[in-house]
Amino acid sequence: MNPPVSNVQASSRSSRRRPFLLLGDSAVTASVRPRQAVKAHLSILLNRKSRSFDKASSVVQLFDRVAPGSAEWVSRTLSSHRRLPFRGRMGLCGFGTGTTVFILESDQGKKALKILRGSLGLNLEEQLQVAREYRRKYRMIKTQYNRDDPLVVPSSYIVMSSPVLGMRAAAVIQPYIPGPRKDLLQGHSDEELLKLFDASPRLRRQFLGFAGQFVSSCRPNSHCLDVVGEENVLLVEEDGHLQIRIIDTGIFDLDRIRVEARERYARFELCLERIRSLLERIPARAHAVSVDGASRMRIAR
Ligand SMILES: Nc1ncnc2c1ncn2[C@@H]1O[C@H](COP(=O)(O)OP(=O)(O)O)[C@@H](O)[C@H]1O
Ligand SMILES: [Mg+2]
Repeated sequence: MNPPVSNVQASSRSSRRRPFLLLGDSAVTASVRPRQAVKAHLSILLNRKSRSFDKASSVVQLFDRVAPGSAEWVSRTLSSHRRLPFRGRMGLCGFGTGTTVFILESDQGKKALKILRGSLGLNLEEQLQVAREYRRKYRMIKTQYNRDDPLVVPSSYIVMSSPVLGMRAAAVIQPYIPGPRKDLLQGHSDEELLKLFDASPRLRRQFLGFAGQFVSSCRPNSHCLDVVGEENVLLVEEDGHLQIRIIDTGIFDLDRIRVEARERYARFELCLERIRSLLERIPARAHAVSVDGASRMRIAR
């Protein structure tokens, strides 16, 4: 997901509280961050370029070294479940560049509740705008990628009293995708993927639809799905079948990231090349027999 929502400006009153809320949110995530060496934490803390989002979490993780269990305690203390508009059990389960993610368990099954970090501390109108902006991107990606198979996980966008410090925030609710969750591209080599496509015509058809859509959306002046973000597009096992699932519908404004985020753009180009090469390596016969997703495919060079 794209963390900053560019056209939402915090009002001056809310913007004063925001840095504290974002630090609190970072501290909440410390307990689910991968364990790192003390040296790695110190370099995060001493580097002026590190995000304060990572710094607060490093402080908590360093404390956890001295007093094991303190990261869990901080997370529990700063997550408030009292004013949640749901019944059921809830626990922190992950985080990404734009969200802090909780699992909600109730008699209606398991859901992922994703708090949109950029909305913390904004006023209600601003938060509604954040939710609408995320929903707009979700709808756009859903229209593009759900033509033949439901690749995009159904998502609802709300503003609610959140578990992060009990503060109101914009959030997304999705079905919870159980682990092991592996990124479609970053979690598999080309050879592994081609083998999986050989073994499952259904998965191959999904990939042809996904890849064809992705490649054709990567044109100058266009917006395309953020496939660079870790675990945005997953390969998961559901009902005994491997499936492609898009859980993060963040998008790239290609012209903008080419200029403003060169490293990210370079990673995007590598992904695009990889997807093109995978498409070329899937036997022509498979393209011909697959559903019309593949026949619509145009490789934009
Ligand atoms: N529906 C879901 N089910 C299970 N885990 C999820 C779900 N959505 C997100 N996650 C976990 O949270 C992480 C961050 O979610 P993501 O949607 O990519 O948000 P962002 O990158 O904007 O922070 C993912 O990498 C994944 O581990
Ligand atoms: Mg993501």
